[in-house]
Amino acid sequence: MTIMLVSLILGAFAALYYYLTQNYKYWQKRGIPCADGALPGVGHMLPAICFRTSFPELFNKIYNDNKNRSMVGFYNFTSPSLLVIEPQLVKTVLQTNFASFNKPIFPIDPDLDPLTALNPFALTGDKWLAARKRLTYAFSSMRLKILLESVKPVCVLFENYLNNKLSKTEKIEVELKDLFSKFTAQVVAGAGFGVDGYCFNEEKENLSFQKIGAVILEPNLRTKIATMLIFLVPSLNKIFKISFVPKHVDNFFRTLVAELMEQRRKDAIPRNDFLHLMTELEKQDGIKFDVELLTAQALSFVLDGYETSSTVMSLVGYQLAVHQEIQKKLREEVMSVFKKYDGEITYEGLKEMTYMDQVLNESQRIIPTIGFQGRICTEEFELRGSDGLICRVQPNTEIRISIDGLHHDSRYWNNPEIFDPERFNSENKQNIDRFAFLPFGEGPRICPGMRMALLQIKAGLATLLRKYSLELSPKTKLPLQMTPGVILASPKGGLWVKIRQL
Ligand code: HEM
Repeated sequence: MTIMLVSLILGAFAALYYYLTQNYKYWQKRGIPCADGALPGVGHMLPAICFRTSFPELFNKIYNDNKNRSMVGFYNFTSPSLLVIEPQLVKTVLQTNFASFNKPIFPIDPDLDPLTALNPFALTGDKWLAARKRLTYAFSSMRLKILLESVKPVCVLFENYLNNKLSKTEKIEVELKDLFSKFTAQVVAGAGFGVDGYCFNEEKENLSFQKIGAVILEPNLRTKIATMLIFLVPSLNKIFKISFVPKHVDNFFRTLVAELMEQRRKDAIPRNDFLHLMTELEKQDGIKFDVELLTAQALSFVLDGYETSSTVMSLVGYQLAVHQEIQKKLREEVMSVFKKYDGEITYEGLKEMTYMDQVLNESQRIIPTIGFQGRICTEEFELRGSDGLICRVQPNTEIRISIDGLHHDSRYWNNPEIFDPERFNSENKQNIDRFAFLPFGEGPRICPGMRMALLQIKAGLATLLRKYSLELSPKTKLPLQMTPGVILASPKGGLWVKIRQL
């Protein structure tokens, strides 16, 4: 009896083991090398699901362990996935053969997240094309000049806020992500919806847009679990049914857009914000007014633009606090441009801040805000690596790209661990491999908000640098370590600096 029971248990374990590992010969059978260490059921994802390492770090490790190959297989739980390593294969996937790799890796369930499912990040086919067309227009040069008019008052509020804080004391200690989130959330409220975001108003903190945005993307436990389930194990999320955007935030945006539209119908005053533009474009395209689509587009301004931009600003602020000589040089540029334009922030002036572009690029190279990307193969395609590896990628195979890996690869960057904005000066930038530098992605799905992001980031940083200086606070935990379980780069313990009036 005991022998039978033991045999049964052993048999069950063997069957389970077989079931959980049956796919793990997939890459071997195709002659493609596979990353070491696949575990039954979880494949290579254990460090990420235990929150031991961040997603970018996970792909960065696979990249570095297989650096001399053009590509390497790995297992996302039991699904065979491919990490492309060579920039020329990255180009094939993101750009040249986009038709075979056009599906994004974010499986949003429209029943759980109806608004996020309409975000271009998650769309494919004609719906994606239409959404992109509208966004490309929304961020054209002509439109950016208009949007800058909504950014300028935020710069004034930002400056007043800092002046106020520094009127009673010589220096203040702040966490940069928190500080810049106030700025970008206030921009989103004004430029996106034409409303006050109350981000610099401590009396109305509860109503602040910063709080609303933070609920969706801040690295707390809910975000980590939601990210894990939605992006890594969507099959399990069919049971847990966790939405990416919490229900009350979904409701907040639906109510906000409905109320604003009602008010606008009554007063019929033309506005300059994103919401107004989207309404106009829908009319032009002959789309029947659809409040769901409009709310989704407005929410996309928050989801895609607010947290990414404040993360970039905080990482740049950190680099400036560490590299005082670069901060000084950048301030000189900012001061000379302000002088030329009578102390005003202008579209032309921001364009002329080319050293600022170098610093932004270098900061995004050394710590990219989004450290990995991916696509799902939509039709069979043969990838040919320069090392002779040939992979016939099957539909539904997930392709991943390690942005962190590419940005720190000494084959494309001299002394990659050194922060040096001169890599991006007019002479040196000619030598950069476009597909080894991907802070905003590349190809037909390249970030459509890039120019808007850079505009507000440059305006915010210029406002800060012209009157204040930054120095690193000992509260910043060095070396920086990224918080696991979230998509955007988020240093553990935050980026603390001391700010003084010049
Ligand atoms: C500095 C801030 C930002 C960074 C670092 C950033 C980065 C990125 C990256 C890496 C992608 C993926 C590209 C790809 O898959 O190849 C992306 C896509 C996207 N971004 Fe941004 N982004 C930023 C700001 C913005 C802003 C301000 C908006 C709009 C308000 C925006 C809207 C989008 C959208 C809609 C997509 C999806 C595009 C598509 O799949 O067609 N982003 N962004």
